[in-house]
Amino acid sequence: MPNRSFQSPIKNARVHAVINRLAEAPRRPPSGGPHNDPAASLDPYDYVEYGFSIVPEQGELIYLLCRGIGAKRVVDFATSVGMSALYFAAAIHDNGGGTVIGSELVPAKIATAKSNLADAGLSGYVDIREGDARVTLSDLGGPVDFVLIDGWPVSQEPSLARELIQVIAPQIRIGGYVVNDNAEPDFLEFIGDSANGFISVNLPLKSGTELCVKVS
Ligand SMILES: C[S@@+](CC[C@H](N)C(=O)[O-])C[C@H]1O[C@@H](n2cnc3c(N)ncnc32)[C@H](O)[C@@H]1O
Repeated sequence: MPNRSFQSPIKNARVHAVINRLAEAPRRPPSGGPHNDPAASLDPYDYVEYGFSIVPEQGELIYLLCRGIGAKRVVDFATSVGMSALYFAAAIHDNGGGTVIGSELVPAKIATAKSNLADAGLSGYVDIREGDARVTLSDLGGPVDFVLIDGWPVSQEPSLARELIQVIAPQIRIGGYVVNDNAEPDFLEFIGDSANGFISVNLPLKSGTELCVKVS
């Protein structure tokens, strides 16, 4: 993976060093894992060593938008080993402070994410809530500016993405953003229903990235 430090909107070398190290590690198992292999286990505990992380183009978009709206309180579902949290935390740091509310089921991944954030000098900006995000993110303690919904496959609908957007949508401020990585059909159905207050556009990043903004 080429080093993107020079073209990135992030100007912090310490952050880049950690992002580049994570980007060089295998993101998913050789089979592709639960997103690509129908025979693969769906148990998150079977994939402790894999990040399934967002790609730099998605991370830089998140960073840029968070800077643009002066984000102070953001949500990272899910945190895994910390790649998306690094982009969020870099933006919150550069915005003058705030909190990334992370969420992750697997404790070993939380330990890795905390270590990566510490290496980047960003520990103080991230609160990773351990457990099932449908519970841990039910009360965000006030309005949030930006949400990443980067979920995990389940055997049948509703998808985690759909369950999470239903829990979090009322807690997003007007003008706040949601980025969805996996384009789960029932997530798109929720966003496409104007009664839920969002408009969105699909971006050709990774296998399709839905960028949504709350307008009412
Ligand atoms: C696609 S990965 C997230 C990647 C991360 N956003 C990044 O860019 O580095 C999805 C993560 O969701 C976690 N997960 C699965 N089910 C969960 C649940 N119910 N609550 C919280 N986390 C969950 C998995 O352990 C996995 O680490």
